[in-house]
Amino acid sequence: MAVLVTGGAGFIGSHTVVELMNGGYDVVVVDNLINSSSKSLDRVQEITGKPVKFYKADILDAAALDKIFEENEIDSVIHFAGLKAVGESVQKPWEYYNNNITGSLVLFDVMKKHGVKNIIFSSSATVYGTPAEIPVTEKCPKGEITNPYGQTKSMLEQMLTDIQKADPEWNVILLRYFNPIGAHKSGKIGENPNGIPNNLMPYVTQVAVGKLKCLGVFGDDYDTPDGTGVRDYIHVVDLAIGHVKSIEKLKENPGLKIYNLGTGTGYSVLDIVKNFEAATGVNVPYEIKPRRAGDIATNYADASLAKEELGWVAERGIKEMCEDAWRWQSNNPNGFEE
Ligand code: NAD
Ligand code: WQD
Repeated sequence: MAVLVTGGAGFIGSHTVVELMNGGYDVVVVDNLINSSSKSLDRVQEITGKPVKFYKADILDAAALDKIFEENEIDSVIHFAGLKAVGESVQKPWEYYNNNITGSLVLFDVMKKHGVKNIIFSSSATVYGTPAEIPVTEKCPKGEITNPYGQTKSMLEQMLTDIQKADPEWNVILLRYFNPIGAHKSGKIGENPNGIPNNLMPYVTQVAVGKLKCLGVFGDDYDTPDGTGVRDYIHVVDLAIGHVKSIEKLKENPGLKIYNLGTGTGYSVLDIVKNFEAATGVNVPYEIKPRRAGDIATNYADASLAKEELGWVAERGIKEMCEDAWRWQSNNPNGFEE
C-alpha cells in the first residue's frame, strides 16, 4: 500500500517524501510543479537511493487523479499541494480559492470514489489569527484571518471536519504548522522560493549568499523582548517526521485529530539574525523597516498534544536549523537551477 503525497516536489513535501521512503513506505507523488522543480525529486532519489514514483499533474484534474488511484494501491494521502504566498493571495483571491479549495474538493471526491478515507492535511498556525493565548494550544479558538490564503486553510479544515462527521470511516489529521525552516542535512533539498522571498529565513540566506543586499526587519516596536516579531521556527525535517508519525496514527482509526507542529520556543527576528550569524560565521546586514500589514507580535505553539498522542517532539534546535538552511543555500545559490 502506498501513500499519495500531493505537492510532494515542494519544500515540505520533498522532505516528507525522504522520511517516508526512509521509513519503508511506498510513496507516490503528484505535483503540477507550479511552485517547484522535479529536480527536487531527483535529489530525493540521491538521498534515499530509491526512485520516486512521480506524476506531473494538477489536483484540479479529476481524470489525472483518477488514473493515479487506479494505477496505485493508495491507502492514505498527505495533502500539501496548494498555493501559499500570503501577500499574493490578497491580490489573487480567485487563483487561491480555485487552486486550494476546488483542487482539494476534486481530490477528496476522487478519494471517496476509490474508497480511500485517510488524509493528513497541511494546515497552518495562521488559522489562530491573533491567538487568544500563548503558547497556542489546539483548544484555542480559530481567530480572525486577514488573507485568502489563510481562509483556504481554515475552510479546508472545516470541510474535512464535516466530511469526517458525515462518514466516520474517514480518518482526518489536521496538522497546524508553525514556521518551517532549515533543510535536509545533505544540502541537496531545501526551500526554493520564486522571486524575492516573503518569509524570513530564505530572505536571510539570500542576503548571506549575496543575492540580496540587506534584510528588512518589519517593525521593532512590538510588545516583545527586543521589539521584533516572535515566531516558533521548526526544522523542516522534524516537521516531515511529524507526518510519518501521523501516518502511523492513521492506522489506529483516530477519526478527526488536530495537532500543532512546533517546538514551543519563540525566537525574534533579531534572534534569528544573531543565531544565523553565529552558526555560519556569515554577516547579515539588516535595517529596521515599518511593520508588515497583517503581522502579529508573537506566536508559538504548545505542542504537547502531538507529543502525547503521536509520540512526536521537535528535536532539532535553532543552530541546526540555521546551519542546514545555509548548507542548502550556499551549495545551491540558485535553488534547483544549475
Ligand atoms: P511549496 O510551494 O514548496 O509546495 C507546495 C507544492 O504544491 C508545490 O510543489 C506546488 O508545485 C504544488 N502545487 C500547488 N498547486 C498544485 C496543484 N493545483 N496541483 C498539483 N500540485 C500543486 O510549499 P511548502 O512550503 O512545501 O508548503 C506545503 C504545504 O504546507 C502547503 O499547503 C502550505 O500552504 C502548507 N504550509 C506551509 C507553511 C510554510 O511556511 N512553508 C506553513 C504552514 C502551512
Ligand atoms: C516571520 C517573522 C516578520 C520577512 C507566514 C505565513 C504563515 C505560514 C508561515 C503558511 C515576522 C519577520 C519576515 C522579512 C522580517 N505560512 N520578517 N523580514 O509571517 O510568521 O508566517 O509563513 O501557512 O501562514 O503568514 O512568517 O517568515 O514571513 O515572518 O522582519 O523579510 O519575520 O515580520 O515577524 P510568518 P515569515
